[in-house]
Amino acid sequence: MKYAERLQEVKRVHWHMVRKLINAKEAQGVKTISLASGNPDLPTPPAIVEAAREALRDPTFHRYPFSYQTRYGAAVASWYRDRFDVELNPATEVRHLAGSQEGIGNLALTVMEPGAVALIPAPAYDSYARATRFAGGEVYLLPLKAENDFLPDLTAIPADVLDRARLLWLNYPNNPTGAIAPLVFFEEVVAFAKRNGIWVCHDNAYSDVSFDGYKAPSFLAVDGAREVGIELNTLSKAFNMAGWRLGMAVGNPELLNALAFVSFNTSMGLFGPSQIAAIEALTADQSWMQERNERYRKRRDIIVDGLRAIGLQLQRPRATLYIWAKLPPAFSDSLEFSKGVLDQTGVWITSGTFFGPAGEGYVRASITLSTEDLIEAMERLQTLKL
Ligand SMILES: Cc1ncc(COP(=O)(O)O)c(C=O)c1O
Repeated sequence: MKYAERLQEVKRVHWHMVRKLINAKEAQGVKTISLASGNPDLPTPPAIVEAAREALRDPTFHRYPFSYQTRYGAAVASWYRDRFDVELNPATEVRHLAGSQEGIGNLALTVMEPGAVALIPAPAYDSYARATRFAGGEVYLLPLKAENDFLPDLTAIPADVLDRARLLWLNYPNNPTGAIAPLVFFEEVVAFAKRNGIWVCHDNAYSDVSFDGYKAPSFLAVDGAREVGIELNTLSKAFNMAGWRLGMAVGNPELLNALAFVSFNTSMGLFGPSQIAAIEALTADQSWMQERNERYRKRRDIIVDGLRAIGLQLQRPRATLYIWAKLPPAFSDSLEFSKGVLDQTGVWITSGTFFGPAGEGYVRASITLSTEDLIEAMERLQTLKL
């Protein structure tokens, strides 16, 4: 029996290795604390859950969900208007997704093929590169350096790469670096994309996990953005709804149409009661997010202070669920550092190399744990013999 060749291109995800390491430590009787997860730990607000419960009883929602997909689109458009000051045509400029992950995978299948190149930040959320390879495309990495505020240098891409480039992936607020992008950078991106005939996909998964008064913009807020690309967004992080699998692609109608064509081969829309929950989430009052983000901010500060106290260098991020920290000068191997920390303290802090080779020299800590667990994790780290 044979498998498709493309499976060879997609390496097994690192997180399996983490599970093994953590399980081995637990088997020694140690209670481990993992700072790995980007999975929000706080519950979905009750009014949103209630909307779904009610919908569950309505037989309308037991049928294929095509007929009310438009209400979902309208709710997304209303959120984009209120939250980002961006006007969208719900019929042509919004596409539902089962989480942004569906958009990442299917956009790669929509645009990439053998010989085509995707421009991918390094480090980055690993799905952009995996989806590209899965679709038979090539990856060209754009280094994100601390000295450039973790923004890529678009002028440094060689002409022969640009000739074959089809798609530029961006993600601000950024996983894993926690960096944010100014609108002027997005303007530069639009000009670059127009000049070179390259699609842009901005992944705005962390738009609403932010602190210290920062409000992340939409890529589409920039003139000309929807001529060159789309933005992915999701209810996973903003609304504590990762398990519901609700997301959206918004922007260029032609690209969304092509994406919909690919998606239709693998899915038949979103479960009705989930859509109703999303409509409630996107259109009702969202002031609860301030308190949620304040909780996250306190957690962020616990980690920032704890990691600085053991000699790691880092910026206090203004958004995302992550702290990206540079190892002390004596250390060069992130994975060895992470393994050593787990071994000595039972705390797992993710090796930066999980986000590509450019993550070497860094580790990533996540804020999706209770304050108590984070305090304990940081106390344990202070006992490290570095
Ligand atoms: C940058 C980024 N994009 C997309 C995703 C996937 O999110 P979703 O739950 O919307 O599929 C994640 C999840 O961690 C992420 O970090």
